[in-house]
Amino acid sequence: MNNLITDIPILDDIKIHDESVQGTAFESVQNQHNPNARKLYIETYGCQMNFSDTEIVASIMLKMGFKTETNPKNADVIFLNTCSIRENAEQKVWERLKQYRSLKKHNPGLIVGVLGCMAERLKSKLLEQDKLVDIVVGPDAYRDLPNLISEVDSGQKAVNVLLSLEETYADISPVRLNSNGVSAFISIMRGCDNMCSFCVVPFTRGRERSREVNSILHEVEILLKEGYREVTLLGQNVDSYRYHNTNFAQLLELVAQMDRNLRVRFTTSHPKDISNQLLETMAKYNNICKFIHLPVQSGNNRILNKMNRTYTREWYLERVQTARSIMPNLALSTDIIVGFCSETEEEHQDTLSILEEVRYEHAYMFKYSERPGTLAARKYPDDVPDQVKTRRLNEVITLQTQISREKNLADIGKTFTVLVEGASKRSEKDLCGRNDANKMLVFPYKEGVKKGDYIQVKVKQATSATLIGEIVD
Ligand code: 5AD
Ligand code: SF4
Repeated sequence: MNNLITDIPILDDIKIHDESVQGTAFESVQNQHNPNARKLYIETYGCQMNFSDTEIVASIMLKMGFKTETNPKNADVIFLNTCSIRENAEQKVWERLKQYRSLKKHNPGLIVGVLGCMAERLKSKLLEQDKLVDIVVGPDAYRDLPNLISEVDSGQKAVNVLLSLEETYADISPVRLNSNGVSAFISIMRGCDNMCSFCVVPFTRGRERSREVNSILHEVEILLKEGYREVTLLGQNVDSYRYHNTNFAQLLELVAQMDRNLRVRFTTSHPKDISNQLLETMAKYNNICKFIHLPVQSGNNRILNKMNRTYTREWYLERVQTARSIMPNLALSTDIIVGFCSETEEEHQDTLSILEEVRYEHAYMFKYSERPGTLAARKYPDDVPDQVKTRRLNEVITLQTQISREKNLADIGKTFTVLVEGASKRSEKDLCGRNDANKMLVFPYKEGVKKGDYIQVKVKQATSATLIGEIVD
């Protein structure tokens, strides 16, 4: 513990950038009431990191005098913060851009911008189609938005897709557009150096870099003051976080120590970087959720090697076993890709068998989608036919749904501590919230219980996706 504190100023020493935070909140209120303020509508696609970036972009735009707008028809500027991870993610954005072109007919001054991964991947190619896109901004260039908007105001198109080795937006206070007021995301690092052969992220988000420790702790402090009860530390590969002498386990410990009533989560982890130190830190603090999203991608060693994942099935299973021996109630989720280049039927069976062996709480499952410029696109033909990929995907989905259902059924009769997030989507009469394992629980409203409370819920029924229960005293 002590060696942990030596190189990091203790919490009292943290620089408070209250000016910028209050500034943004103040501007937000001021701009929202100013009838002349220009209106910004932002749509976000893809991962949590993109949602977190949207909150940075909103902060920069509010400082420029914009106000946020929820209807694209009323907007002066429409931004699409985009994802390139699979081809269908990009396809959705192209369709949306075409819809917005028709808004331009009624509102010739409308500015449409593409931000994020697609901006980085396609660069000025996005400007080639007539009247579709006016501004293209990559994930590391959001500070340049004031200049880019004024270039567009003067009648030009504007592009900045420079990637950076340092940018972390550490000093920019996000405007919590996507938040329920209870749970917030904190970006702790950007980029990725892993070079998995299927993945476009190292090309769209650039080199890995970690955000300064104090700015992260400061953001947590502000969230605590605002009444937040849960933070998720975000990065493409949080376990390789390192800022000077502070590694991820140490950062996690510092965050957990700030308030024992603050739940702490993190995502995403690369199996190769899950250290025992991290697992032990998780076990040591009640307020660090016993949940790891640990993408395995495939259960077969030849495919894992071709994917450049740098671990084997056996190595992965050992990490899972160690994690569970340190935290017996640990919940796990994963990502699976089916139909990667040259994957045989037998190799696909290995993926099914790893799902059975680990028994994840949940999985995100995808068909392999070749991304231009990636290692796999350059080296290996995308030779598994689409109908085979679809069949394999259905097989993994069917198996995983059954496992999730069985795991949820096993929760019937158990009582969990739940952080209330608000009314359930299904009914105003029900509340919802998550337990430590990140499972969603739905339960009838009870007098006096409100958003942000920790309560005890006993599970009565379960589906593969939700636990249904009752508040107990
Ligand atoms: N095709 C399909 N899925 C992909 N992923 C990343 N790249 C691809 C691709 N080219 C999946 C991986 C990753 C998750 C975020 O998206 O499973 O963990
Ligand atoms: Fe996020 Fe990756 Fe999609 Fe970019 S490509 S938005 S980093 S999931």
